[in-house]
Amino acid sequence: MKRDAALVGRAPSPAPDPLVRRPLIRRGEPPDLPEIAAIQAASPEASSWPPADYLQYDLRVAVVEDRVAAFLAARAAAGDEFEILNLAVAPEFRRLGVGRALLESFLAGLRGAVFLEVRRSNSTAREFYKSLGFKELTLREDYYSLPPEAAIVMKFHSC
Ligand SMILES: CC(C)(COP(=O)(O)OP(=O)(O)OC[C@H]1O[C@@H](n2cnc3c(N)ncnc32)[C@H](O)[C@@H]1OP(=O)(O)O)[C@@H](O)C(=O)NCCC(=O)NCCS
Repeated sequence: MKRDAALVGRAPSPAPDPLVRRPLIRRGEPPDLPEIAAIQAASPEASSWPPADYLQYDLRVAVVEDRVAAFLAARAAAGDEFEILNLAVAPEFRRLGVGRALLESFLAGLRGAVFLEVRRSNSTAREFYKSLGFKELTLREDYYSLPPEAAIVMKFHSC
């Protein structure tokens, strides 16, 4: 008898590889810059910086099986305030917990407020940050160019 796919349902998606769920998080170094540049080029929703500029900030990478799967750049601002400058996960590693692991490593042990801006249309990133405890604070009109768009300012507070 023929099985009806609609009745049987789709096979469950395979569980993410444990290496992906728990990537190695380490400081980003000059040899990582080509992979960071490739992730940035594949992530038009994120900001785009000359990759070498990230080295002057707190640059972290998530490594899965010797590949840089994601990067995060952040800086200390005034007092106990911090700013996330950019965060992007390579498309093939998205929705596997890599971004969460990287951001949690940054937030762990941090005391104070963390701010970031995200494009209003970037609902994926807005949901991602909200899932990690960030709140949407305010909107900045005409914040971005290429293409022009408003920014949503988000804040995380750790005490
Ligand atoms: C936003 C981004 C960093 C998320 O990274 P990720 O590794 O895919 O996210 P995770 O797998 O760790 O997801 C953690 C949670 O975020 C939320 N989330 C992530 N992707 C989502 C999506 N496409 N839709 C809705 N919620 C999403 C979910 O709550 C998710 O938890 P769950 O999978 O248990 O439901 C990634 O999509 C990305 O690199 N986007 C392009 C660059 C970018 O927009 N950067 C932000 C610049 S401010």
